[in-house]
Amino acid sequence: MEGKQTFVLVTGASSGIGKAIATGLSSTYKTILGGRNQEKLLLTKEDCSAKNESIIFTQDLKELTLLEDKLSTFLLENNIEISHFVHCAGFMKMSPLKMMTVESIHNTFSTNVFSAALILKVLINRRFNNAALKSAVLISSNISGFGAKAFSVYGASKAALDGLVRSLAIELAPKVRINSVLPGAIHTEMTDSIFSDPETIQRMESAYPLGLGNPSDIFGIVEFLLSEKARWITGQQFYADGGRTVNITG
Ligand SMILES: NC(=O)c1ccc[n+]([C@@H]2O[C@H](COP(=O)([O-])OP(=O)(O)OC[C@H]3O[C@@H](n4cnc5c(N)ncnc54)[C@H](OP(=O)(O)O)[C@@H]3O)[C@@H](O)[C@H]2O)c1
Repeated sequence: MEGKQTFVLVTGASSGIGKAIATGLSSTYKTILGGRNQEKLLLTKEDCSAKNESIIFTQDLKELTLLEDKLSTFLLENNIEISHFVHCAGFMKMSPLKMMTVESIHNTFSTNVFSAALILKVLINRRFNNAALKSAVLISSNISGFGAKAFSVYGASKAALDGLVRSLAIELAPKVRINSVLPGAIHTEMTDSIFSDPETIQRMESAYPLGLGNPSDIFGIVEFLLSEKARWITGQQFYADGGRTVNITG
């Protein structure tokens, strides 16, 4: 088991917030770039620092029955281990309750929550990962603790993710720290339809005291939480939303 190269795994590294986090972390860590789309992951790899190696792990995280086997095989075949994990992959389908489908509920919870639990299960495994995991950050959302029309299932999945963080923080201590980061609205592929309406943008801008954010605004707190500087922090939820959730201006 000795002499294995150690990596950070970032799911959702092909786009938006995950891409910004993966490229940012690549200055410090060897990175595993997770996603489904190989071409987009290669573009992320081009943006990663040349100082450290970056490799690609393509896997549809909705395929839950394959996930543990695919990830453990990937680790063993590449003779590597993962010390840090950022779960940034996410699926959001805005839908009022009357339009909700079983498929969309499954997709949302599988991608956002269940896959994170199964990945963590592999990463704490002695045989597959040499129990190398030290720290994990799961990307939740500021909807987790609040409410909005058409966000019920997505919001429930992020609240579930935060619940996972709190209990695993206790279960996996002191070896592994785990926290979540709750971004506010950021223009990415996921939110492109929301950001295509100028009136909506104007309304959102007025609700964000620090203005709307960029994917790179989430990197700093993730980097901190993964690092030893956060050695006494676990089980916590950190809002990174430009002040949106504390703004009760009428
Ligand atoms: N943007 C926001 O306003 C906002 C706010 C709060 C929280 N968040 C959260 O931030 C995270 C990143 O979102 P984003 O805005 O950066 O969205 P994005 O640009 O659409 O990126 C989503 C990422 O998730 C991956 N993904 C989606 N479904 C997947 C699946 N079934 N299997 C594997 N990978 C999958 C995508 O990879 P492929 O398409 O290549 O598979 C992509 O890399 C998500 O968890 C989201 O819920 C976003």
